[in-house]
Amino acid sequence: TYSIAEPCVDVLDKACIEECPVDCIYEGNRMLYIHPDECVDCGACEPVCPVEAIFYEDDVPEQWSGYVSANVDFFDDLGSPGGAAKLGKVDYDPPFIKALPPMGE
Ligand code: F3S
Ligand code: F3S
Repeated sequence: TYSIAEPCVDVLDKACIEECPVDCIYEGNRMLYIHPDECVDCGACEPVCPVEAIFYEDDVPEQWSGYVSANVDFFDDLGSPGGAAKLGKVDYDPPFIKALPPMGE
């Protein structure tokens, strides 16, 4: 699967959403999260993010490895909604994301 990492926090450009053929990129309060089971690994989202926040799971930089778990934990209560558009923005972020200082300038 692909994961979204720290550069997305407080930026939320959302260019990635337009590219995803299965609508598996979900919006939280401070960043977006890729559903680990709904993602079909097409790679379309990765090059369009202007801040290079998206990585294939094996390529997530070491210092951002916690974000792989965050992309999983975001869906603990949501399960597999099967589409981000119909769900809309979710008023939630995993605890460590929520606790981050303001980012993106
Ligand atoms: Fe975030 Fe980049 Fe998408 S900033 S919302 S991962 S285009
Ligand atoms: Fe979606 Fe493909 Fe990215 S399935 S999350 S655009 S890798």
